[in-house]
Amino acid sequence: MQEKVSKIKKYYDNPDQYLAEHKDFFSIHNPEKDVDFLIKVLEIEKSDNILDITCGQGRHTTELAKRGYTVSGVDFSSSLIDEAKQIAIDANIKSQYYIQNIESLKLPSKFDMAYWFFSDFANIDLASAIKSISNQLNPGARVLFDSDSLFRIVSHLQNNPDSPYKFDPKLLQLIDNSLGLSIPYPTFLMWQDWLNKNELEIINVWGNYDLSSYDIKSPRLIILANKKAA
Ligand SMILES: C[S@@+](CC[C@H](N)C(=O)[O-])C[C@H]1O[C@@H](n2cnc3c(N)ncnc32)[C@H](O)[C@@H]1O
Repeated sequence: MQEKVSKIKKYYDNPDQYLAEHKDFFSIHNPEKDVDFLIKVLEIEKSDNILDITCGQGRHTTELAKRGYTVSGVDFSSSLIDEAKQIAIDANIKSQYYIQNIESLKLPSKFDMAYWFFSDFANIDLASAIKSISNQLNPGARVLFDSDSLFRIVSHLQNNPDSPYKFDPKLLQLIDNSLGLSIPYPTFLMWQDWLNKNELEIINVWGNYDLSSYDIKSPRLIILANKKAA
Protein backbone atom coordinates (compact mmCIF):
# COMPACT_ATOMS: atom_id res chain seq x y z
CA MET A 1 0.00 0.00 0.00
CA GLN A 2 2.79 2.41 1.03
CA GLU A 3 4.58 1.67 -2.26
CA LYS A 4 1.40 2.37 -4.27
CA VAL A 5 1.00 5.76 -2.53
CA SER A 6 4.62 6.76 -3.04
CA LYS A 7 4.40 6.11 -6.81
CA ILE A 8 1.66 8.69 -7.35
CA LYS A 9 3.05 11.05 -4.69
CA LYS A 10 6.38 11.08 -6.54
CA TYR A 11 4.56 12.19 -9.70
CA TYR A 12 2.81 15.11 -7.94
CA ASP A 13 5.93 16.07 -5.98
CA ASN A 14 8.02 16.43 -9.13
CA PRO A 15 7.59 19.95 -10.57
CA ASP A 16 8.65 18.66 -14.01
CA GLN A 17 5.68 16.30 -14.15
CA TYR A 18 2.14 17.35 -13.07
CA LEU A 19 2.58 21.15 -13.26
CA ALA A 20 4.66 20.99 -16.44
CA GLU A 21 2.32 18.51 -18.17
CA HIS A 22 -0.77 20.62 -17.34
CA LYS A 23 0.82 24.01 -18.12
CA ASP A 24 -1.44 24.67 -21.12
CA PHE A 25 -4.55 23.54 -19.24
CA PHE A 26 -3.76 25.87 -16.31
CA SER A 27 -3.02 28.79 -18.64
CA ILE A 28 -6.47 28.62 -20.30
CA HIS A 29 -8.62 27.13 -17.56
CA ASN A 30 -10.17 29.74 -15.35
CA PRO A 31 -10.57 28.79 -11.63
CA GLU A 32 -12.99 31.72 -11.21
CA LYS A 33 -15.65 29.80 -13.15
CA ASP A 34 -15.06 26.65 -11.06
CA VAL A 35 -15.40 28.66 -7.87
CA ASP A 36 -18.65 30.28 -9.11
CA PHE A 37 -19.90 26.72 -9.67
CA LEU A 38 -18.79 25.52 -6.21
CA ILE A 39 -20.36 28.48 -4.40
CA LYS A 40 -23.61 27.95 -6.31
CA VAL A 41 -24.07 24.19 -5.91
CA LEU A 42 -22.76 23.94 -2.33
CA GLU A 43 -24.57 27.18 -1.39
CA ILE A 44 -21.46 28.36 0.44
CA GLU A 45 -21.83 31.28 2.82
CA LYS A 46 -19.17 33.67 4.12
CA SER A 47 -19.42 32.18 7.63
CA ASP A 48 -18.63 28.62 6.41
CA ASN A 49 -15.36 26.87 7.16
CA ILE A 50 -14.40 25.30 3.80
CA LEU A 51 -12.07 22.40 2.96
CA ASP A 52 -10.44 22.00 -0.48
CA ILE A 53 -9.72 18.25 -0.67
CA THR A 54 -6.52 17.54 -2.64
CA CYS A 55 -6.06 21.23 -3.34
CA GLY A 56 -2.87 20.89 -5.43
CA GLN A 57 -1.24 24.31 -5.93
CA GLY A 58 -4.39 25.92 -4.48
CA ARG A 59 -6.18 27.13 -7.62
CA HIS A 60 -9.61 27.09 -5.96
CA THR A 61 -8.39 27.73 -2.40
CA THR A 62 -6.70 30.92 -3.59
CA GLU A 63 -9.75 32.11 -5.51
CA LEU A 64 -12.10 31.51 -2.54
CA ALA A 65 -9.71 33.23 -0.12
CA LYS A 66 -9.46 36.21 -2.51
CA ARG A 67 -13.25 36.50 -2.30
CA GLY A 68 -13.10 36.61 1.50
CA TYR A 69 -14.06 33.00 2.31
CA THR A 70 -12.42 30.97 5.11
CA VAL A 71 -10.73 28.08 3.35
CA SER A 72 -8.14 25.37 4.04
CA GLY A 73 -6.47 23.11 1.50
CA VAL A 74 -5.08 19.63 2.04
CA ASP A 75 -2.85 17.63 -0.29
CA PHE A 76 -0.09 15.03 0.10
CA SER A 77 2.29 16.81 -2.28
CA SER A 78 4.67 19.03 -0.31
CA SER A 79 5.90 20.76 -3.48
CA LEU A 80 2.33 21.67 -4.55
CA ILE A 81 1.52 22.89 -1.02
CA ASP A 82 4.74 25.00 -1.02
CA GLU A 83 3.60 26.52 -4.31
CA ALA A 84 0.10 27.21 -2.88
CA LYS A 85 1.61 28.88 0.22
CA GLN A 86 3.84 31.08 -1.93
CA ILE A 87 0.88 32.14 -4.11
CA ALA A 88 -1.04 33.06 -0.92
CA ILE A 89 1.91 35.15 0.35
CA ASP A 90 2.31 36.92 -3.02
CA ALA A 91 -1.43 37.68 -3.22
CA ASN A 92 -1.54 38.69 0.46
CA ILE A 93 -4.42 36.36 1.22
CA LYS A 94 -5.18 34.15 4.20
CA SER A 95 -5.61 30.40 3.68
CA GLN A 96 -4.43 27.37 5.63
CA TYR A 97 -2.60 24.48 4.02
CA TYR A 98 -1.90 20.96 5.29
CA ILE A 99 0.23 18.13 3.90
CA GLN A 100 -1.73 14.94 4.57
CA ASN A 101 -2.97 11.81 2.83
CA ILE A 102 -6.67 11.93 2.05
CA GLU A 103 -7.14 8.40 3.38
CA SER A 104 -6.14 9.37 6.94
CA LEU A 105 -6.93 13.05 7.53
CA LYS A 106 -6.22 14.52 10.96
CA LEU A 107 -6.96 18.21 10.53
CA PRO A 108 -7.19 20.56 13.54
CA SER A 109 -10.75 21.73 12.74
CA LYS A 110 -14.02 20.45 11.29
CA PHE A 111 -15.63 21.87 8.19
CA ASP A 112 -19.08 23.07 7.04
CA MET A 113 -18.32 22.73 3.32
CA ALA A 114 -15.87 20.55 1.39
CA TYR A 115 -15.16 19.75 -2.22
CA TRP A 116 -12.97 17.19 -4.00
CA PHE A 117 -12.73 18.93 -7.37
CA PHE A 118 -10.81 17.83 -10.50
CA SER A 119 -9.99 14.67 -8.57
CA ASP A 120 -7.37 12.07 -9.36
CA PHE A 121 -8.21 8.79 -7.60
CA ALA A 122 -5.01 6.98 -8.68
CA ASN A 123 -4.03 4.40 -6.04
CA ILE A 124 -6.56 5.80 -3.57
CA ASP A 125 -8.73 3.50 -1.48
CA LEU A 126 -11.98 5.45 -1.87
CA ALA A 127 -13.79 3.68 0.99
CA SER A 128 -11.05 4.87 3.40
CA ALA A 129 -10.92 8.35 1.85
CA ILE A 130 -14.69 8.88 2.20
CA LYS A 131 -14.58 7.74 5.84
CA SER A 132 -11.68 10.07 6.54
CA ILE A 133 -13.42 13.04 4.82
CA SER A 134 -16.70 12.43 6.65
CA ASN A 135 -14.85 12.46 10.00
CA GLN A 136 -13.65 16.01 9.19
CA LEU A 137 -17.16 17.36 8.60
CA ASN A 138 -19.57 19.04 10.99
CA PRO A 139 -23.12 17.65 11.20
CA GLY A 140 -25.16 19.25 8.39
CA ALA A 141 -22.03 19.98 6.31
CA ARG A 142 -22.19 19.65 2.52
CA VAL A 143 -19.51 17.94 0.40
CA LEU A 144 -19.08 17.71 -3.37
CA PHE A 145 -17.28 14.86 -5.15
CA ASP A 146 -16.29 15.63 -8.76
CA SER A 147 -14.92 12.71 -10.77
CA ASP A 148 -14.37 11.43 -14.29
CA SER A 149 -17.27 9.33 -15.60
CA LEU A 150 -16.96 5.55 -15.87
CA PHE A 151 -18.92 5.71 -19.14
CA ARG A 152 -16.62 8.38 -20.61
CA ILE A 153 -13.47 6.36 -19.95
CA VAL A 154 -14.93 3.10 -21.30
CA SER A 155 -16.15 4.83 -24.45
CA HIS A 156 -12.74 6.56 -24.83
CA LEU A 157 -10.89 3.23 -24.55
CA GLN A 158 -13.25 1.56 -27.03
CA ASN A 159 -12.57 4.36 -29.53
CA ASN A 160 -8.82 4.25 -28.89
CA PRO A 161 -7.81 0.57 -28.93
CA ASP A 162 -4.10 1.50 -29.00
CA SER A 163 -4.29 3.36 -25.70
CA PRO A 164 -1.51 2.30 -23.29
CA TYR A 165 -4.14 2.16 -20.52
CA LYS A 166 -6.17 -0.94 -19.81
CA PHE A 167 -9.48 -1.24 -17.98
CA ASP A 168 -10.14 -4.01 -15.47
CA PRO A 169 -13.89 -4.69 -15.80
CA LYS A 170 -14.09 -6.73 -12.58
CA LEU A 171 -12.32 -4.26 -10.32
CA LEU A 172 -13.61 -1.22 -12.28
CA GLN A 173 -10.12 0.27 -12.40
CA LEU A 174 -8.12 1.97 -15.13
CA ILE A 175 -4.64 0.48 -15.14
CA ASP A 176 -1.51 2.39 -16.10
CA ASN A 177 1.23 -0.24 -16.02
CA SER A 178 4.03 2.18 -16.95
CA LEU A 179 3.50 4.27 -13.79
CA GLY A 180 2.10 1.42 -11.62
CA LEU A 181 -1.24 3.17 -11.15
CA SER A 182 -4.74 1.83 -10.75
CA ILE A 183 -7.51 4.39 -10.88
CA PRO A 184 -10.90 3.40 -9.45
CA TYR A 185 -14.03 4.17 -11.49
CA PRO A 186 -16.83 3.27 -9.06
CA THR A 187 -20.45 3.07 -10.12
CA PHE A 188 -23.01 5.44 -8.65
CA LEU A 189 -24.30 2.62 -6.41
CA MET A 190 -20.81 2.05 -4.99
CA TRP A 191 -20.58 5.76 -4.14
CA GLN A 192 -24.01 5.64 -2.55
CA ASP A 193 -23.01 2.67 -0.41
CA TRP A 194 -19.74 4.27 0.80
CA LEU A 195 -21.44 7.60 1.49
CA ASN A 196 -24.36 6.02 3.38
CA LYS A 197 -21.95 4.04 5.54
CA ASN A 198 -20.31 7.31 6.55
CA GLU A 199 -23.38 9.36 7.45
CA LEU A 200 -23.42 11.13 4.10
CA GLU A 201 -26.72 11.44 2.28
CA ILE A 202 -26.76 12.15 -1.44
CA ILE A 203 -28.77 15.27 -2.20
CA ASN A 204 -27.98 15.74 -5.90
CA VAL A 205 -26.12 14.19 -8.85
CA TRP A 206 -24.99 15.78 -12.13
CA GLY A 207 -23.12 14.68 -15.24
CA ASN A 208 -21.24 17.92 -15.85
CA TYR A 209 -20.55 21.41 -14.53
CA ASP A 210 -23.54 22.75 -16.49
CA LEU A 211 -25.69 20.76 -14.02
CA SER A 212 -26.94 18.42 -16.76
CA SER A 213 -28.25 15.08 -15.54
CA TYR A 214 -25.92 12.10 -15.20
CA ASP A 215 -26.28 9.66 -18.12
CA ILE A 216 -24.08 7.37 -20.21
CA LYS A 217 -22.78 10.32 -22.28
CA SER A 218 -21.83 12.42 -19.26
CA PRO A 219 -18.17 13.46 -19.03
CA ARG A 220 -18.30 13.71 -15.21
CA LEU A 221 -20.00 12.19 -12.20
CA ILE A 222 -20.63 14.97 -9.68
CA ILE A 223 -22.21 14.05 -6.35
CA LEU A 224 -23.41 16.47 -3.70
CA ALA A 225 -23.94 14.99 -0.24
CA ASN A 226 -24.97 16.15 3.17
CA LYS A 227 -23.52 14.98 6.49
CA LYS A 228 -26.41 13.82 8.65
CA ALA A 229 -27.23 16.04 11.59
CA ALA A 230 -26.12 14.59 14.94
C1 LIG B 1 -5.54 16.52 -10.69
S1 LIG B 1 -4.81 17.25 -9.26
C2 LIG B 1 -6.04 18.44 -8.82
C3 LIG B 1 -5.56 19.49 -7.86
C4 LIG B 1 -6.61 20.57 -7.54
N1 LIG B 1 -7.82 20.01 -6.97
C5 LIG B 1 -6.92 21.40 -8.75
O1 LIG B 1 -8.06 21.35 -9.26
O2 LIG B 1 -6.03 22.10 -9.23
C6 LIG B 1 -4.97 16.00 -8.06
C7 LIG B 1 -4.39 16.32 -6.70
O3 LIG B 1 -4.61 15.23 -5.83
C8 LIG B 1 -3.50 15.12 -4.94
N2 LIG B 1 -3.55 13.76 -4.39
C9 LIG B 1 -3.59 12.60 -5.08
N3 LIG B 1 -3.66 11.54 -4.23
C10 LIG B 1 -3.69 12.06 -2.97
C11 LIG B 1 -3.78 11.48 -1.66
N4 LIG B 1 -3.85 10.15 -1.49
N5 LIG B 1 -3.81 12.32 -0.60
C12 LIG B 1 -3.73 13.66 -0.76
N6 LIG B 1 -3.64 14.27 -1.97
C13 LIG B 1 -3.63 13.47 -3.06
C14 LIG B 1 -2.32 15.41 -5.84
O4 LIG B 1 -1.16 15.75 -5.12
C15 LIG B 1 -2.88 16.55 -6.69
O5 LIG B 1 -2.62 17.78 -6.12
